[in-house]
Amino acid sequence: MTLERFRMEGKVAVVTGAASGIGRASAVALSDAGARVVLADRDEENLEKTALMVDDNLVVPTDVTKKAEVDALVDRAVEHFGRVDVMANVAGIMGAGGPIVDIDEAALDRVLAVNLKGVFFGVQAALRVMGEQRSGSIVNMASAAIDAAPAGLAAYSMAKAGVAILTRVAAQEGGPMGVRVNCVAPGFIVTPMTQRGTPEQMANVEAMMRKRSALGLVGEPDDIANAVLYLASDASRFMTGQVLRPNGGTAMPA
Ligand SMILES: NC(=O)c1ccc[n+]([C@@H]2O[C@H](COP(=O)([O-])OP(=O)(O)OC[C@H]3O[C@@H](n4cnc5c(N)ncnc54)[C@H](O)[C@@H]3O)[C@@H](O)[C@H]2O)c1
Repeated sequence: MTLERFRMEGKVAVVTGAASGIGRASAVALSDAGARVVLADRDEENLEKTALMVDDNLVVPTDVTKKAEVDALVDRAVEHFGRVDVMANVAGIMGAGGPIVDIDEAALDRVLAVNLKGVFFGVQAALRVMGEQRSGSIVNMASAAIDAAPAGLAAYSMAKAGVAILTRVAAQEGGPMGVRVNCVAPGFIVTPMTQRGTPEQMANVEAMMRKRSALGLVGEPDDIANAVLYLASDASRFMTGQVLRPNGGTAMPA
């Protein structure tokens, strides 16, 4: 009975960032649970590779920084599958790091455009359609950076903190329409985003992350996809406006 609530048969899920890492794993998890999945990303080549892993899919190349493209993505989903039950706003970039005094305006704008405005457009488009349906679940991708406030990651952390507050506001607005809105704040996950150094540098980073984890673990995309599936499905019907923290125990806010 309870397990049934994780099943996604008959549901349609839109996943941005589906060409790689956490987005790809989320698309596959939602599909494995029975959903029809709309795959969106600006990386068309890798999006096609994800399509090979997902049974009943629709590929819609999308740049989430463009409101018109995100609106068109959701409209295409409705045209093709008749509805949108889940909107997973996963697309994101790490962007330029470094001390605040060195961050240039263009780099700041870029990170905010993808990680914050891109999620806003996804929430906006999804609320429009789900509000009419009187049902739906929106899952946004934040980051453990909202707890850690790591030096050298101001733009990224600001954007992700923005995603967390957007999630709560959208949950207040969506609740009366039957729409739930939650976010996931993953710890360090091995994906192309975090594999940005020599193998030796990466081994050092992973060893450091393992040390910070109460479980001694480094996360994999599936660890986050499982959280996305939970929030997307009726298993989380009593959850809205929340931050779920699959982070291996690196941060434990009260
Ligand atoms: N990997 C981690 O440790 C980690 C931790 C916390 C949060 N996150 C978040 O999880 C999400 C996925 O990250 P990932 O690690 O899988 O990274 P990834 O680089 O593997 O995947 C990100 C995807 O987003 C897509 N994308 C980037 N800009 C886009 C745009 N303008 N329009 C459409 N698609 C765009 C990329 O093409 C890519 O396919 C991001 O929001 C990231 O901030 C990742």
